[in-house]
Amino acid sequence: MQLFKTARDRAIASASAIPPLPHKATTVLRMLVTPDVSLRAVADVIATDPILTACVLKVANSAVFGRSRTVTSIREAVSRLGTMPLRRVAIAWAVFGVFDRFRTPGFWRHDKFLVHSGATAMLMADLAEALDSADLDAAYLIGLLHDIGKLILAVKMPEEYQEAIRRQEVTRRPLTECELELLGIDHAEISGIAVEKWNLPESVCLAIRNHHSAGNGIDDPASPTLTLMIAKSDEYINSLGAGLFESKFPPSGLIAWPGHERATARALESFRTSWQTSRTLFL
Ligand SMILES: [Fe+2]
Ligand SMILES: [Fe+2]
Repeated sequence: MQLFKTARDRAIASASAIPPLPHKATTVLRMLVTPDVSLRAVADVIATDPILTACVLKVANSAVFGRSRTVTSIREAVSRLGTMPLRRVAIAWAVFGVFDRFRTPGFWRHDKFLVHSGATAMLMADLAEALDSADLDAAYLIGLLHDIGKLILAVKMPEEYQEAIRRQEVTRRPLTECELELLGIDHAEISGIAVEKWNLPESVCLAIRNHHSAGNGIDDPASPTLTLMIAKSDEYINSLGAGLFESKFPPSGLIAWPGHERATARALESFRTSWQTSRTLFL
């Protein structure tokens, strides 16, 4: 029997032990993806959770949906939003509910983590929409979850992970390289292992697992797959200064695919506007 596990073994065990998605989150998400679900029924389920209710009211009253009158009833908020924005709020609520269950160490910047994840998710959704992808929810979810491996490593292996961050800051090399040196695994692979535990679609798990290795022969660089979309979105968000630990690196970030220049320009334009008006939702 092996008594001393390697850092890699411990990291994988931590990712595999991620708590399940709360039952209520699963119910709401399943309901929202049901075709022709009644918004009234959705409102009634949302009303059973005070945090989700508060999120829905906040979004319905935000500048994006800018109306003069404040809504206070959940049914009215739900019909003001409509299905797609409601889905995004519910997905973010389910994911952030899981994030909040981790007890993070002192060096962890949870506020930056939420902003980075939220911004990446919004850009992913804008890109998916502009590129006419059928995977709008998947793109949004990938954005929210792609760096969950960092959270897991920071919580479960704080000393080693803090050293990886320190090494990255001193050497200015990519964080994933420093993680590999110290832990034998990087946060992208840990994120991938964790989301596989939630039985998310294969395309979601694959994009998350490979978000730092896109372009290494995994995908056709000319084709905007979910993996390339998350790799580029992540770089772009970091270049805006909304990175978690990587924000000091110079921007590499133009998002463009041959043949899709107009769509990507449209997505970036839409993201800039929506991020200005809705970034407070993630603060
Ligand atoms: Fe990452
Ligand atoms: Fe990231």
